[in-house]
Order: sequence, then C-alpha cells, then structure tokens
Amino acid sequence: MSMITQPTLVRDHSSKLLSGSAKVWFLFAVAGQLIFVFHILHFYGGATIKGDLAAWNEILYHGIITGDTMGNVALGIHLLLAAIITLGGPIQLTPWVQTHMRRFHRWNGRAYVVTAIVISLSGLYMIFGRGAVGGPVMGAGNTLNALMIMVCAVMTMYFAMMGKLDVHRHWALRLYLVVSGVWFFRVGFGLWILIHQGAPGHTDTFDGPFDIFLAFGHTLIPVALLQLYFWVKEKGGPPSRKTMTLGLVVLTALMAGGIFMATVIFWLPNS
Ligand code: HEM
Repeated sequence: MSMITQPTLVRDHSSKLLSGSAKVWFLFAVAGQLIFVFHILHFYGGATIKGDLAAWNEILYHGIITGDTMGNVALGIHLLLAAIITLGGPIQLTPWVQTHMRRFHRWNGRAYVVTAIVISLSGLYMIFGRGAVGGPVMGAGNTLNALMIMVCAVMTMYFAMMGKLDVHRHWALRLYLVVSGVWFFRVGFGLWILIHQGAPGHTDTFDGPFDIFLAFGHTLIPVALLQLYFWVKEKGGPPSRKTMTLGLVVLTALMAGGIFMATVIFWLPNS
C-alpha cells in the first residue's frame, strides 16, 4: 500500500518497516479475497451456466424466491457485482497500476464507485424488501455498512475531481475497507471459530454478543485501525511506527488464520 506514502515524509527505518508491514497485510488480504471471488464465480456462476439457479438456495438465506422478480434480479446483480468489486479494489490500489496505467485507474475508479453504490442499494433492497438476513441486528449492521460504502464512494470521487489527491487516497482506502466488510465478516467469523473451536456468543438468530460485535465491527474496526495507521504514519515518531508495525504483523497473522478457516468452512465446501 505504498500509495499511502507521503513523499514529504522522512523515510527512516521505522517508516520503511511500517510501509512494508502494510504491503504484507495487503498481499494476504488480496490472496484471501481471491479465494472469496473463486467461491462466488465457481458456485453462483457455475450454477447459473448450468441453468440451475435453484442451487443458489442451498446456501443463501432467502435466495431465489418464486414470484419475487425484482428481488431475484437484485440478488443476481448483487452477486455479479460482488465478484467484480472484490477483484476491482486490489487492482485499483496496486501502485504500479496507479503509476503506469493512469487512464485505466480513472475508468476503473469510476466503475468501482458506481459498483459500490449499486451493490449497496441492491443489498438494502434485499434487506428491506425481503427481511434482514440473520435478523434485525445483522440488518442494522449491514445497513450501516451500506451507508458507509456510499459515503466513502462519494467522498473518494469528490476529492479525485477536486484534485486533492492526498485526501482522495485516504477516502479510497476507507472505501476499499468498507467494501471489504462483507469479506471481513466471514474472516472474523472464521477466526473466532479457529480460536474457540466453536462459536461462543453466536446464536442461530445472530443476536448473541459476538454476533452484535461482528455485525458492526466488520465495518467499524477496519476503518478505525486505518485511521490509527494514517495518524501514526503521518504524525507518529519511530516508537509508535514500530509499535504499529508489530500490530500490523499480528493482525496479518490473525487475518491469515481467519482466511484459512473461512476457506475451509464457507468457501471451499460451497464452490
Ligand atoms: C460491497 C461488497 C459486497 C460484497 C462483495 C457482497 C457479496 C455477497 C455475496 C457473495 C453474497 C452471497 C452469500 C455468500 O455466498 O457468501 C451476498 C449476499 C447478500 N448480501 Fe452482499 N455483498 C456486499 C455488500 C452488501 C451490502 C452493503 C449489503 C446490505 C446492505 C448486502 C446484503 C446482502 C444480502 C441481504 C445477501 C443475502 C441474500 C440471501 O441470502 O438471500 N451485501 N453478498
């Protein structure tokens, strides 16, 4: 994520360590997101190609509902855009693409912002049209996620158009993290199961203490940690930069554990 790098910063050893740990975090996240995309394309795309849309209902909460044409269309658009946006984000944040493919960066960026807004609206349509997946707590958490995605999308676009590129980069990273909220949810759940070899605090109606934590945490925690990262990178001294580096290494290890479990529990069996 060297796109966060401020050219004016003195690039001392602790700054390099911090940037390096952010890059490693990003590489692990991209690897985990590619597995998620594989699940989406292989399971939903594969069933669609075979003409077996009923297979979607094996894992979805509402899925395809006979007679609910608008809801089914919203779901189909949602799943198609889910694969596109999960691939588009990492491409957009790759420094090489930003430097060498500027025209592509602009068009992919516009497409990403529009996709983020449409996928959020289709998600909201499903929640309020069909009833929240998992229950009211999950509904509230996902609504927050959708609202934050749309706010970050508008701010990212606005500051790009204003030419305020430092502020644009900050909002673009926030947007990437809130768009990844759905993925963080699955990784967070996987990590919880890995740590406890079970899911304490989780109920079938998704209103246990852990469910409430994750319903809002999957959006708020990554953004809060990113804010801390910006602050340490731009204003912190070497000790805080080294502490943040260590924190990112620990977070990366935890995320890798969560990716492993989500792959084994959610994605591979449903691919
Ligand atoms: C922005 C990134 C998003 C991605 C990549 C994404 C991805 C997905 C995927 C892959 C599924 C199918 C379940 C699975 O196989 O895991 C799904 C279902 C669903 N998503 Fe999203 N989603 C996103 C945002 C949202 C938002 C913001 C909302 C809510 C406002 C939402 C609401 C839903 C609902 C309600 C379903 C379930 C449909 C059902 O079970 O019948 N999604 N999403």
